[in-house]
Amino acid sequence: MRILVLGGDGYLGWPTALHLSRRGHEVGVVDNFVRRQYDFEMGVDSLVPIAHLQRRVRTWEEVSGLAVEAFVGDLTDHRFVEKVLDRFGPEAVVHFAEQRSAPYSMIDRAHATYTQVNNVVGTLNLLYAIAERDPAVHLVKLGTMGEYGTPNIDIEEGFIEITHKGRTDVLPYPKQPGSFYHLSKVHDSHNIQFACRIWGLRATDLNQGVVYGQETDETTMHPDLATRFDYDGVFGTVLNRFCVQAVVGHPLTVYGRGGQTRGMLDIRDTLACVELALLHPPAEGEFRVFNQFTESFSVRQMAELVADAYPGRVTIEHVADPRVEKEEHYYRAAHTKLLDLGLVPHLLGPATLRSILAVVDRHRDRVDPGAIAPTVQWRATESTLATSSGLPRR
Ligand SMILES: NC(=O)c1ccc[n+]([C@@H]2O[C@H](COP(=O)([O-])OP(=O)(O)OC[C@H]3O[C@@H](n4cnc5c(N)ncnc54)[C@H](O)[C@@H]3O)[C@@H](O)[C@H]2O)c1
Repeated sequence: MRILVLGGDGYLGWPTALHLSRRGHEVGVVDNFVRRQYDFEMGVDSLVPIAHLQRRVRTWEEVSGLAVEAFVGDLTDHRFVEKVLDRFGPEAVVHFAEQRSAPYSMIDRAHATYTQVNNVVGTLNLLYAIAERDPAVHLVKLGTMGEYGTPNIDIEEGFIEITHKGRTDVLPYPKQPGSFYHLSKVHDSHNIQFACRIWGLRATDLNQGVVYGQETDETTMHPDLATRFDYDGVFGTVLNRFCVQAVVGHPLTVYGRGGQTRGMLDIRDTLACVELALLHPPAEGEFRVFNQFTESFSVRQMAELVADAYPGRVTIEHVADPRVEKEEHYYRAAHTKLLDLGLVPHLLGPATLRSILAVVDRHRDRVDPGAIAPTVQWRATESTLATSSGLPRR
């Protein structure tokens, strides 16, 4: 299959591109490197050093004998999107290319509007370009479990049957997202569903949980192929952040009481889920939703798992929750559709935790402890990003 991976320079896009390439697909990657730009803005860096995209692609060809074509440009530029689709002629597009940090979207007005314009306009440009060129192209779009929020009832996979005043219908599951970033994903989902309805496009919305881990079968083939690993207070996902804190002897910082429960998955399962979605495309005009996570844990449980797996002494500290969210709540979300397609999950056990801790340990000299604390406050309309030197940075 000819597959374009948008956001192919990012944490998940790059390993996904390699995985699909190794599985025999013809793969192109698209990125504008804005993720690297956020690091410059915040004065932080990926814990694991990452090669630039051109070198990654060259090394992949040397190591595997397989070519991955790189396209550099911005999805909010519709001419660029159209040109790439014309040049590459994909049968499927996997769309990872969005601003993906909730705290980043909550810094201030400028970061909120940037996030929503980048994500919503980029996706709209893509929908138009696909509809005008080849509506048969399968769009696999990364959404998030955070779109649903934490309702006091079971979360279904995208849709819920509702009986109201004696009439029954299957409707999109109600969304109560927790940040302007998560809201951008909700807006995307609505736009994609609408495009499927009016233009007969076919799309899979992958409502993904929080991803952990850094190594995949392909990224470990050469240091140039490594993917990024974020641990800072703005982009670091929770389990990766706890592993860094354990290794550098920093208390594991649990926000509030730590009862916030989230769906989680191993980075290797992200690759497997995307491939399963690609191999089993929806029908023409179909918009389907898969909840892409394998287990759920509370933040407190995750801290305890890391503390138990780390051989040294680890302390857990509860800090004021910078977010506006329920610190204890009901959480039960369906996630059977990918399992039905054949997903065999990598569950979070001591071996996986030890392998993440080993990655962190190899790069412990690169940790900037000043980057870990949360700096973005949900209750404020404006937060100041502090650099590691302690100077305010705007
Ligand atoms: N990492 C997670 O735990 C997680 C969880 C749920 C959902 N997701 C979703 O998966 C996707 C990928 O996440 P990630 O962690 O790899 O993020 P990432 O930031 O590492 O990767 C996204 C890539 O997209 C690129 N990009 C952003 N806007 C672009 C634009 N306008 N044009 C071209 N390129 C652009 C960035 O430069 C970056 O390389 C995102 O959509 C994210 O919301 C991630």
